[in-house]
Order: sequence, then C-alpha cells, then structure tokens
Amino acid sequence: MTDTVKIAFAPFSAPDAGALVVFCAGGLKMGAKTAAHVAGAASFLREAAETLSFKGKWSSAMDLVRPAGLTAERLLVVGVEPKDGEVDFVHLGGYVAGRLPKAKVVHVLFEGAEGEWSASAAADFALGFRLRGYKFDKYKTKKSDGEENGKTVHDVTMLVADPDAARGAHAHRESVAEGVEIARTLVNEPPNVLYPEAFADHAKALEKLGVDVEVLDEKAMAKLGMGALLAVGQGSTRASRFVSMRWKGAKSKKSAPVAIIGKGVCFDSGGVSIKPAAGMEDMKGDMAGAACVVGLMHALARRKAKANVVGVIGLVENMLGPEAYRPGDILTSMSGQTIEVVNTDAEGRLVLADALWWTKETVKPKLMINLATLTGAILVALGVENAGLFSNDDELAARLSQAGKATGETVWRMPMGPAYDKLIDSKFADMKNSGGRHAGSITAAHFLKRFVGDIPWAHLDIAGTAMASPATETNTSWGSGWGVRLLDRFVADHYEER
Ligand code: BES
Ligand code: MN
Ligand code: ZN
Repeated sequence: MTDTVKIAFAPFSAPDAGALVVFCAGGLKMGAKTAAHVAGAASFLREAAETLSFKGKWSSAMDLVRPAGLTAERLLVVGVEPKDGEVDFVHLGGYVAGRLPKAKVVHVLFEGAEGEWSASAAADFALGFRLRGYKFDKYKTKKSDGEENGKTVHDVTMLVADPDAARGAHAHRESVAEGVEIARTLVNEPPNVLYPEAFADHAKALEKLGVDVEVLDEKAMAKLGMGALLAVGQGSTRASRFVSMRWKGAKSKKSAPVAIIGKGVCFDSGGVSIKPAAGMEDMKGDMAGAACVVGLMHALARRKAKANVVGVIGLVENMLGPEAYRPGDILTSMSGQTIEVVNTDAEGRLVLADALWWTKETVKPKLMINLATLTGAILVALGVENAGLFSNDDELAARLSQAGKATGETVWRMPMGPAYDKLIDSKFADMKNSGGRHAGSITAAHFLKRFVGDIPWAHLDIAGTAMASPATETNTSWGSGWGVRLLDRFVADHYEER
C-alpha cells in the first residue's frame, strides 16, 4: 500500500515536534534562517559531523536523535554540496523520504546554504517525497515489516519563504504524482487481473475528470478494418479493446490536439513464436506505453491543462491457441497496407500500426507521439538509462529531449533512414513485421513510420525504462510510470495556453 504523504506549506517558524530536516553545503554551511534556528546546537553539530565524517556532500545526511540544544526529536541534516543552483529537488525530496521511512511528523526548513529556495523547488521536493512513498504490495497478505498495515501517514510541513506560491506550484505536481502512481500500478498489476477489458475500465474512469472516453470492441474494430491489431489478440480468450481519451482544455475545442498513443499488450507470451520461460512474467508490463497514456491523461485532466490532448491505446493479449495468428499469415491493416507476419512476438508494432493510422485519420492531430515497450534491442543499445527516441521531425525530437532533461526521464535519439527501412520489405506483402536481428529497434521504428503519413511523429521505445526498473531515490517500484512526467512537461512547455 502506498504511504500517504500529506504536504502542507507554512512560513519559516521554529517547529518543536517530530523530525526536522535542514540542509547544508560543505563545512556545514547553512542558510541564515537555518543557522539561526540550529544555533543552540552548533557545537553538537560540529562534533557529530566530525564523528560521522559528514562533509555536506550531495546525497549524504546525518540522522541525529534528540540533538542537544534543540527541541526537535530528530534532526536530519542533508548535504546539498555542490552549489544550490544545480540541486535536483525531485531527487532531493525522494532522498529525504528514503531517510525517514517511518517518520509521521516531518518539518522541512526549506532553505539552501545560499538562501531561500523557490516555490517551484518546494513543489518539486514534495513531488519527490511523495513518489518515494509509492509501494505496490496489495497482493501480500503479510506486510514485510510484520505490521498489520504497512502504510504510514507522513505529515510533512515545508517551511518556505512564500507558502501561497508553493501551494500553487504544488497543485500541479500533485496531479502529476497521481498520474505517475496510476501508471505504476497499471504496470505492476498481474495479467490475470489486468486484461484488455479491465484495462479499458481504468481508462473509462477518466470520465469523472471530464475526459471523453470511447471504448471500441472487436466488432467495431473489425468494421474499421483493424486487421493488424485484431490478429494479435485473436489467440486469447480475452477480447481486445481500443480506447480513445479526449481532453479538451484549450480555449478552442476545435484546435488540432496533441495525440499520445500507447502499446497496451496486457501480456506478451510471444504467441506461436513463444518466448523463453525465464523472465516471461515480466511481459505483464508490456502495456506500459498504454499505462503512461492513462496516467498522463489523468494528470492533464486533473490539473485542467489548457491544451487539447487525445490519448489512444490498443489493448490486446498476445497468446497461443488454436485461433492464434501464425508466422506466414498476411494481414491487412486499417491503412490498407499488407503485412507478412514472420514472428508473432513482433506484435506491438502491429497494434500500433492500426492505432497510429486510426489516430491520423480520425483525430487529425497536430503531432503524434507513441510510447511502447517495443524491443528488447533497445535495452541492448541504451540500457535502462535512456528511452529510445525516433522521429521524423527535428523540432519535436528536440522538445522531447529537452523535457526529458528537465524531468530526468531522459531520451536518446536514434538514427533512421531508407537503408534501414528496406530491411522490412517482404517477398509476399507490402512489409514484414520483423527485419531480423540487426538494428532491431530501428527497423521496428521504420515499421511504425509506415503508418504515420506526413504528421510530425515521435516513437519512444520504453522497454528499458518502464519496467524492471532499478530503484532510484524517487522510485522503488518495478513499474516506474516512466513518461508521465516527461509528457506532462512537454505539454506544459509547448502546447498550453497561458
Ligand atoms: N514486448 C517485447 C519487447 C520487450 C522485451 C519489452 C524485453 C521489454 C523487455 C516485444 O513485443 C518483442 O517481443 N520484441 C521482439 C521483437 C523481435 C521478435 C523482432 C524482441 O525484442 O525480441
Ligand atoms: Mn513480443
Ligand atoms: Zn511485446
């Protein structure tokens, strides 16, 4: 169960209950207000720093119980050297939360060595603190620490220069935090619980935030000619679904929206081209692209973003069975282009082919971005540090790279070109669904590109970043919710009216 983090903002004061968090640079250098507040404990702090070899370095802290000369029960002195200006406050909030896992009452004297930190810094810190508290243990009947309920309520009061400004900035971040948590949970849920129809119900829930949600069943998809998407799902007893989510927050409801499209393979067994047993359970996360889209739409609607954004997800389960599609099958996609199946495990691109085409034709967006756990090859190329970015538009690619840097959800642009595109030409059909081992992520991107026409488009291959994530200061969950923060930022920076 996720810890509840309640954040309040108050003017600087002298708190006397619970844990107190203060910040310092090298040589225990503190801001004026902090220094004045801990003045009574100055010699105690110097001695403690000496004993603990605490230098005030970034990502280090001294955790002191009942420090002599102070009323606080506990004092956490957190190092932020080097310079204040380079502090990543989301990371810092996560770090502090990680150092205070059971603290119920926390006061944070939010000031750097060089002086007061900004309202947006305070909101970022609160976001990091909250994201660190996310846990997915709803299927454990016994909590790890032996307690009946592993959930802790953290009452965090941030003492800041301008509480009203901090509250304003925080409202935005709270919406984003909810979106990230939704995406994480969808990725973490097991595939027997979260099959396509169940997933569609989560999308449907966005209606209460004012999102127009439309769910298409298989009959409706067949009528539209979505032969590629439907083929992937036909081996499963779980029916496929196709969902669009429209948020109209711009002044003109008619202005062309930004479209975000997600791969939603609720479980990817590989199909007839079955995957090896080891690690196959991870393929419950093969809907992380779709999870990100739902989390993002939640964040945007919740904070009433002044932009028109459409989310589109294709939901299927890739299974084996007498009805399953086969290598050798030739499919006709909604675009009319034909596809020779050479590997039923290259299924995500088939789902996206119809989703992209539908979006281009029906939504007529100003740009399209798709997210997909598309290839194992992107893990070989980039590991878990960057998502692969593929685009037909330099400006769009630059904007995504910039939003990635700003949020820490970083992307790395990969090359494309006609020589790669040729690798997916087929002897029998317009294209085949795999170009073989070489440049696997790039040929997958070229497959998608054949379904986007002239619209500015970007594809994010998130197979390395969305699941099986290494623990960080802001995420200890298997599903990271990757992309929600990046795309929220992308929309906020470039597509929102002010
Ligand atoms: N869902 C997988 C990609 C994947 C692998 C995601 C590892 C996360 C972790 C995708 O559907 C797939 O199976 N891709 C194949 C493509 C190949 C058959 C051309 C792959 O990457 O091996
Ligand atoms: Mn696959
Ligand atoms: Zn897959």
